[in-house]
Formats: sequence, C-alpha cells, structure tokens
Amino acid sequence: MCGISGCIIKRGNVANILYSSLKRLEYRGYDSAGVSTIYQGQLLVKKDAGKIDEIHSRLNLLDLPGNIGIAHTRWATHGAPSQVNAHPHLDCTGSIAVVHNGVLENFLELKQELEARKHTFRSKTDTEVIVHLIEEYIKIGKKLTEAVLETTRKLRGSYAIAVIYAGEPDKIVVARNESPLVIGLAKDMNLVASDVAALIEYTNRVVFLENGDMATVTADTFQIIRIDTGIPVERKITELNWTLEMATKGGYPHFMLKEIFDQPNVLREALRIQEKYLDLLTEFLDRGRDVFLIASGTSYNACIVGSYMFSKLARLSAYPVVASEFIENYGSSIGVDTVILALSQSGETADVLTSLDYARYRAATIIGITNVLGSTLTRIARAYVLQNAGPEIGVAATKTFTSQLMVLALLALRLARKRGKVSQYEIDEFQDELRSIPQLVEKTLEISNEPIKKLSREAARFSSMFFLGRGISYATALEARLKVMELSYIPSIAYPAGESKHGPISVIEEGYPVFFIAPNDETRKYLIGNIMEMKARGARIYCVGSEGDEEVKQLSDWFLGLPTTHSLLSPVVYIIPFQLLAYYTSIERGYDPDKPRNLAKSVTVL
Ligand code: M6R
Repeated sequence: MCGISGCIIKRGNVANILYSSLKRLEYRGYDSAGVSTIYQGQLLVKKDAGKIDEIHSRLNLLDLPGNIGIAHTRWATHGAPSQVNAHPHLDCTGSIAVVHNGVLENFLELKQELEARKHTFRSKTDTEVIVHLIEEYIKIGKKLTEAVLETTRKLRGSYAIAVIYAGEPDKIVVARNESPLVIGLAKDMNLVASDVAALIEYTNRVVFLENGDMATVTADTFQIIRIDTGIPVERKITELNWTLEMATKGGYPHFMLKEIFDQPNVLREALRIQEKYLDLLTEFLDRGRDVFLIASGTSYNACIVGSYMFSKLARLSAYPVVASEFIENYGSSIGVDTVILALSQSGETADVLTSLDYARYRAATIIGITNVLGSTLTRIARAYVLQNAGPEIGVAATKTFTSQLMVLALLALRLARKRGKVSQYEIDEFQDELRSIPQLVEKTLEISNEPIKKLSREAARFSSMFFLGRGISYATALEARLKVMELSYIPSIAYPAGESKHGPISVIEEGYPVFFIAPNDETRKYLIGNIMEMKARGARIYCVGSEGDEEVKQLSDWFLGLPTTHSLLSPVVYIIPFQLLAYYTSIERGYDPDKPRNLAKSVTVL
C-alpha cells in the first residue's frame, strides 16, 4: 500500500499542497517519497529514501515551482526502499512522470518487451513499465489521455496511477483498478489522491472513481471514461462532512476497524505475490530434514495454521514453535539440514531475531515472511516473501494475520505441486478455493458486523471466556483468544477442543461463555461431542459455524453461520468475526482498540 496524490491549480505553485497531502498519506507507507512538478515546460523531480520529513530536510520539497504536480509515499513491494526506486518514475526522455499504488502482475513480461525495444530502466520497481509504455504511445503521436488509456489496457494487476507530461502541462491523467482513487474539486484547483485524507484540507467535494475508471483532470474540469470501452461516464460528486482525523482512517473511527475492513483488498494483493519468490521458499522448505515455523504472538498462530496446511496438502511436517522458546527447545539439535521459516509482520521482533541469529550460527537455512521490506528479517533471511499488506497502524494484528495465512497457503500449494503426494484434484480444488477467499471474506464481514456488534454488549460483561476449536480451527481459537484478550483485557482461555476435557473443563459453571469455532469439516462430528460436554456442565454455547448447519445451530445459545470454504482455508474466514468481537468489546469497555495498554506494535526486547 502506497499513497499517491496530485494537484493542478490555475495560478501559483502546488509544492506546498503536495507536501501537505503527502504528510496526510504517510500512514499508507513511509519508506521513501517523491514529488514531481512541471515548470516552464520541464519536469522537475525530487525523491529519496526515508520518511517525508527527513527527505524534506535534505531536499526541500517546497522548493519546486510549477502549478501542476504529483507525489508519492511508498511502502515497498518491488525493489528495496532507495532513491532510484522511489516514485515518481520517469520515461527515457524525462518528460513523463508517473506515481503508482498497487502491484502489477505482468510487469516482468512488459519490462522484457520494453527493454528489447531499447528502453532504459533505472529502478527495480514494477511501476516503471507504465511510464515507458506511455512514452511509446506519445512517441507515435497520441495525446496523454489516449496514451494512458492504451497503457492501462496492457496492465494486469492492481493500480491507482497519476501521470503528468511536460508536453501537456494542463492536465493530470489518473486511472484505477482495485487500488483506491479519489478526485477533489476545489475553486480554481483540482486534486487527486489515494484517499480523502490527502484532500480534505482543501475541499470536501469529492468524486470516488470506480474500478476500471480513468480521468483527465485539469484545474477546473474533469472527465471520466471507462478503460475497457473508452466511453465517458458520470460519477456523482459527494460532499463529505469528515474531520481530518476521520479522513485518515478512511471514515472509520479507528485504524483497527479500517484494517479489518481492508482485508478483502489486502488478500487480493497477497494473491499477486510473485511466483519466483514463492518458488524459492518452496525449494528451501522441500530440502529441509527438519522444518520449523517460528514466530511470536499472532504470527505464531499463523505458523500453526501453516503447519496444518503443509502437512495436509504437501505431506511436509513443519513444527510451529514460539520464538522465545526455540533455542531452549531445539537449539542443540538444529544444524545444516534445518530449515527455519520465520514469520514476523514487522520483521523486527527480538525473540524471532535472536532465534534466527542462533540458528544461523548453527548453519541452518533461514527463510522468512514479513510485511516490511528492509526489516532485519529481510536482511537475515536467505530468501523471503513480502506480504504486500501495507502498514498496519492498529497494534493488534488483523490484516497482516490473514495475509500471512494467504502466503502460507500459496506456499503449501506450491509445495504440494512439487512434492506430488496428493492428487491433482485436491491441488486444483485448493487453488480454486484460494482464489475465492477475498470474496468470502468480504461476505463474512457483511454477515458478521451487526450480530457481533450486538454480541459485544454482552461480551463486555464477561469476566472470562473460553475459545475452542479442533484441527486447524485450534489455531483460529488461539488467535480469537489473543485478539479478544489483548484488546478487552478479559482473561480468556483457548484450547484444542478435544483437550479441554483433560483439565480446563473444571472451570465451567452455569452460564460460563464458551466460543466454538465449528466449520463443517472433518473435525465437526468430534466437536459436537465437545459442545455436548460443555453444555452438560451449564456452559453458554456461542458457535461460529457453517451457514445452514442446523444441528450445530440447535446446540448453540448463539450461532453465526459463515460461508463454506476449504477446511485448510477456514481460519482466514473464521477469524473475521473474532477480530470484530475484539474490536467492539474493547469499545464497549471504554478502551482504545488501536492502542491497547502495555503493548507495542513491534516488540524489540527479549
Ligand atoms: O511483528 P511480529 O509479527 O513479529 O509481531 C509478533 C507479535 O508481537 C504480534 O503479533 C502481537 O502478538 C500483536 N499484539 C498481535 O495482535
């Protein structure tokens, strides 16, 4: 996730407007930034790696004349955070500039074609292909709008782009597919941006572009066309009454809620992760004699899900281990045949890094999954995959958890193909289900939000609660418990449902709340037995199960039915209502879900 903005004004300079819009977008990414304006027929550019203020103190971003410009704040996905990889990117002639938010799936083939036609690439980004393609159309006499239209038709993947051209200094051309884009209408000035936060200081009159829209924006006009047909379309002008704070959170009251609702898009981005990185990790995983998945907190819960996926789909035994226990437990037995897949959203968790240092010293192979390019994990690992989830501001991990699960699922799929131990039918079925996950999560958010909000009024009064699941849903139970406990401060217990009768069941008394994660999979018939055991002792039963499962519904005091999916993917869907429960219960109890007490986003102490 990156932030883009642009501005065109009748008179005066846009540099200060672009600078302030960049600051507002900084929460979308902050590893590098840049601005480009057009002045006296020349394209001017300032860009660098680092936070916006650091770059400004080095380069003075306000010292850029021109009444038209575009800007970008980056969260790296292709290419390390560096000056050359920072946006805007320029064509070979230095007269066209583009900023982009999204991930292009076909950039490698486009890049090869463009290089064969003698284009010089300066960066390692996927974005740069866009500007060279536009250059080709301009060269054959197309106007900027037409050149961008032809270019977007060649792109596969997600994008929101803004383009300026020194040869037509009266317009910004923008286009979107999946990544958000909004036009802001002000007096003698129009703006474009990834979100309203960047515009709200200047106007509350906005036009939200839809997927497949493209627009040509001048200082006093805008025209929207559809990319596929080229036909003009009308989009309504919305007058917002948002405060700046609301705008930064996309209209949601907290970052956490925004991040929960961002998940369908984040999961779509995860499905675009480049195959070559996944293949590299798969190679290493397949070679290991001992394979460990290590992490802390939510990332550890993702490791448990990963171990079920690897085992069931690829017949690979991979042991999930809490990072802070790894050296004590396995330190003396690891060696050159050990492969460690470390999961860390931040890539900076001290417990994880310490274990990895130790493992490196014992010649083990380290690979990683992280959300932060340039983090220590990316430097330690032999190979890594980036989640592409964008910055997560809420302290509680939500979108980065489900995106970790998607990456693990993609790896499991590749491992399954490589190891060839399950049938082609099973592999194809899993792949199809994986592609439908973003949509299922969207539907789950819709189904869950209101009932969970209502339930949270009851949950806020609980003094303790139980979370139970079997098989892969045990990991969902652990993550549900972690979310609810860390945000509502209600002491809670999570167990494999089958294990609960070996001790924890003694805490049950009349009315004690027990939440079951109950998808209709191979564990269901045993789980029903566990529900009966709890019911018999007076527990109040809350079940999140499969839509239409009347038997489980009958056994429950409260039931929420979710869309059916592949059993190995169910945690991605089933965690959603619990993220919402954690959020709303925290609010009901009067706490700030974005900043739970005693916690930090990244725990860099042992
Ligand atoms: O950045 P990491 O994924 O390594 O962070 C691990 C944990 O600190 C993190 O998941 C923590 O448990 C969060 N509070 C979970 O919401």
